[in-house]
Amino acid sequence: MGPVVLAVLAALAVPGAAGGPGLLSLRGSWRLHSGNGSVSLRAPVPGCVHTALLRRGLIQDPYYRFNDVMYRWISLDNWTYSRTFQTPFDVRKWQKVNLVFEGVDTVAQILLNNVTVGRTDNMFNRYSFDITSVIKEVNFVEVRFLSAISYAAEQSRCHKAYSIPPACPPPGQKGECHVNFIRKEQCSFSWDWGPSFPTQGIWKDVRIEAYNHYHLIYFSVTPCFVKSAQQWCLEVESIFDVVSSKPIAGRVTVSIPKLQTQQTFSVKLQPGEGSIVLLVNINKTAAVEAWWPNGHGKQTGYDMKTTFIMEAGYKVEKFSKVYFRTVELVQEPIPGSPGLSFYFRINGRPIFLKGSNWIPADSFQDRVTYDTLRLLLKSAADANMNALRVWGGGVYEQDEFYDICDEIGIMIWQDFMFACALYPADQNYLASVRAEVLHQVRRLKSHPSIILWSGNNENEAAISSNWFSIPSSKREVYIRDYLMLYVKNIREIVLSEDRSRPFIASSPTNGLESVKEGWISRDPYDTHYGDTHFYDYNSDCWNWTVYPKTRFASEYGFQSWPSFSTIEKVSSAEDWSYISNFSLHRQHHDSGNVQMLQEVGYHFKLPQSTDPVKKFKDTIYLTQVMQAQCTKTETEFYRVSQSEIVKGEGRTMGALYWQLNDIWQAPSWASLDQRLPYSLLFQIIHPQSKPLKFNGPEKKEVLRRVQRSPVELGKGLEHKSDGEQLRELGMFSLGKRKLGGDLMAFYYLKGGCSQVEFRLFLEVTSDRTRGNGLKLCQGRFKLDLGKNFFTERVAKAAQGSGEITVPGEYGGKWKLLHYFAQNFFAPLLPVAYEDQGVLYIYGVSDLHVDQKLTLRASVSQQDDIYVFALQTTAIAPYVSLDVGSIKGRFSDNGFLMTEKKKVVVFYPWESTSVEELEKSLTLTSLLDVV
Ligand SMILES: *[C@@H]1O[C@H](CO)[C@@H](O)[C@H](O)[C@H]1NC(C)=O
Ligand SMILES: *[C@@H]1O[C@H](CO)[C@@H](O)[C@H](O)[C@H]1NC(C)=O
Ligand SMILES: *[C@@H]1O[C@H](CO)[C@@H](O)[C@H](O)[C@H]1NC(C)=O
Ligand SMILES: *[C@@H]1O[C@H](CO)[C@@H](O)[C@H](O)[C@H]1NC(C)=O
Ligand SMILES: *[C@@H]1O[C@H](CO)[C@@H](O)[C@H](O)[C@H]1NC(C)=O
Ligand SMILES: *[C@@H]1O[C@H](CO)[C@@H](O)[C@H](O)[C@H]1NC(C)=O
Repeated sequence: MGPVVLAVLAALAVPGAAGGPGLLSLRGSWRLHSGNGSVSLRAPVPGCVHTALLRRGLIQDPYYRFNDVMYRWISLDNWTYSRTFQTPFDVRKWQKVNLVFEGVDTVAQILLNNVTVGRTDNMFNRYSFDITSVIKEVNFVEVRFLSAISYAAEQSRCHKAYSIPPACPPPGQKGECHVNFIRKEQCSFSWDWGPSFPTQGIWKDVRIEAYNHYHLIYFSVTPCFVKSAQQWCLEVESIFDVVSSKPIAGRVTVSIPKLQTQQTFSVKLQPGEGSIVLLVNINKTAAVEAWWPNGHGKQTGYDMKTTFIMEAGYKVEKFSKVYFRTVELVQEPIPGSPGLSFYFRINGRPIFLKGSNWIPADSFQDRVTYDTLRLLLKSAADANMNALRVWGGGVYEQDEFYDICDEIGIMIWQDFMFACALYPADQNYLASVRAEVLHQVRRLKSHPSIILWSGNNENEAAISSNWFSIPSSKREVYIRDYLMLYVKNIREIVLSEDRSRPFIASSPTNGLESVKEGWISRDPYDTHYGDTHFYDYNSDCWNWTVYPKTRFASEYGFQSWPSFSTIEKVSSAEDWSYISNFSLHRQHHDSGNVQMLQEVGYHFKLPQSTDPVKKFKDTIYLTQVMQAQCTKTETEFYRVSQSEIVKGEGRTMGALYWQLNDIWQAPSWASLDQRLPYSLLFQIIHPQSKPLKFNGPEKKEVLRRVQRSPVELGKGLEHKSDGEQLRELGMFSLGKRKLGGDLMAFYYLKGGCSQVEFRLFLEVTSDRTRGNGLKLCQGRFKLDLGKNFFTERVAKAAQGSGEITVPGEYGGKWKLLHYFAQNFFAPLLPVAYEDQGVLYIYGVSDLHVDQKLTLRASVSQQDDIYVFALQTTAIAPYVSLDVGSIKGRFSDNGFLMTEKKKVVVFYPWESTSVEELEKSLTLTSLLDVV
């Protein structure tokens, strides 16, 4: 067994003060050995086998090259964690002593002093084992794991009556089978963006708790609002383990000094698991500041103190931060549209959810630090996001995750951890899930950031669209299991534990309509109800007409490759080609690499360099540009659709693209890559996504019918609805910035040409089209190269009137509704770009730059920030700054550089220097692609 370390025990021990519970943390160094003892090492707890082996240098970086496959043996083995510990308190003095695990990953037998005290089978549960009769002064604890892969296979074999698909992931994922049979992070057996690392370990806190009389296990506070009295209240719930055989009476005082609120309650704790629910009314004379989502107000919290003074035992004091907010999921008829709305009302205000989907930040949860979470979440908030969906294939995130979201106003759509599969519903499985749900709801319900519980990811759709080819004769069995799991168990528990926020059974779902149809709707993707997930990798993604005009877009997106500097760290030179074994290996989504090239090819010339590494880098860059432009277009489409009903569809009230973050360095839909730099997607899409004004149902505004969304190529132009108030249409709106001045075109000179010809498609209205509604006009324009090196005016817009004066064939005054530009030199590669109220049009494929583009940057330091002074000799589209692994944020990135000089500020998240930044900087623009 090796030597026993007892040295740090004294420091860890927190003996019970004033009769309070005795606590002994068992965090720290444990012994870890493989099944047959051939590998034995010291391992930190919390932690897992992989990171322990890595730390000891026994394996390489698991993310390096093909190591996910090479290290499969680790997950196939059965590992054991053990340690000796001494109790700093007299164990005989306590009525009850528990061994508490906040998280065990996953299947294990727990022994104390050679006695089995319990077993675990659910990573998401909290386990407390009664060790009163087993604990001694000096103890030996063992956690004997069984390989999650073996366990899942065994459970599947035991489920004899019928199979529970899918059996295995697609071969491209190089994953493990039957993950739906184990209550473990579902993507740890691989996903279409992630590797297979079915970890084993004690992934959360572990400790000994010793107490007499009673012990507080859960404490939660949820806000409520009494409409009739216009008064806020709080529901304060405390759950105790009561050891006494008789009830214990006492008094509880709750005080919130800042709200001049103090209330005292007489309570009685019943033996066993005793729960106390107190309703605290906030003093009506106090001005309560509500908690608001990012961009809608402050995230005010109040300090609350709760004191339990019981007739037996000790005093318990709880200090908490409490927040006030209400949340409603509004599903009601919409005039002019069949179906029901689907949107969130926070504190009575309808709010458009802008954001993304969250996946686990690492395959090895013990590496996810507070700082990592803070940077990721703060990045989301800085980019004007107000919501994230914690997706059902990962983990219920750690407390700190939700604390940060509370503080910075990120609303959380919280899935339960079931994704893209059917699940068993036998008694043992249900019992495990019930415990998990109870624990997670109790643990998390105090967080105002959580605005929704959602039963699963895509499992309603999986049955409804028959993903797993279940014959219709067998369908009933699976529907029964579905209802048993999500409706009769999960939903029941959620409703009994937490009435303060809504519950839906699945995503996508038709919400109330799904309920009406027996919880499994004929078409959960119906745009007239609930939320939708939408992916299309074949259509040209700049063409907004392919997107569903949905009530709520909870998933959509496009893949890209992470930056070369990210890939470089986990690969070797032989891998640096788009068609290398490595590039195929890292792509877990079937045909993903081909799909990306196809999308890129719709608008850009594919890289042609004969230097394979240059070609690889160019391709990576273009996939990022493509991803950014496509996701931006789709996001804008959803945002524009928020106050519109077109052909009965619209009133979109959420756009959460897939996916915010990455789990490893690989092609995926992510906008922040695994080592945290922002992708072009993140940088292009978000800085401009300022809060939008909502013309929503609350204002009972009559929505005016618009023929088509004024978006093309991701653009939205303001227009007037019957001379009414101007509408804001998103980040591309020329309206708010006033469509005034000039529409500009710029170009690169081909050969010695002095004239550039292009078409500008304008969707316009004027007196001449009155009665016919909208009409598409095509104007053909010739541009003479003027003095201006970069730009040329193609149309003049009257200040603020929304009118432009167009020369040529269709000359006259027009009201511009949307535009679409096509360059004659590159008819298949139109690019239009609007910046600061100016429309730029260019084609880049066949055009040669007469003057060689030189793009340079010089870096200087000013206090805590670094200034990048950029210079260009020609217009540079999609300028990307990448400083490798140096963490920080650029003030602007992925931009169109139309001026000869531009300054970009870098805000570092760690200490760096001018030299380091200069050395790491890669500066790329579209014109660097050859
Ligand atoms: C111990 O187990 C490992 C992994 O299963 C195996 O490779 C090794 O040969 C075994 N060693 C012994 C001594 O049995
Ligand atoms: C792990 O334990 C299971 C169940 O006892 C056994 O079937 C399997 O062979 C063990 N794996 C290894 C590598 O020893
Ligand atoms: C532990 O228990 C097993 C059987 O339950 C026994 O064979 C073994 O000798 C015990 N070991 C110790 C150290 O007590
Ligand atoms: C409410 O606050 C006022 C002003 O601080 C105080 O006088 C009053 O006693 C409080 N009421 C209650 C019920 O605590
Ligand atoms: C956009 O997609 C629609 C189908 O949704 C198609 O009919 C139309 O031709 C496409 N437009 C362009 C410019 O490709
Ligand atoms: C790529 O993988 C195949 C199949 O495993 C192998 O035959 C080939 O040698 C590999 N190519 C390179 C360049 O490593």
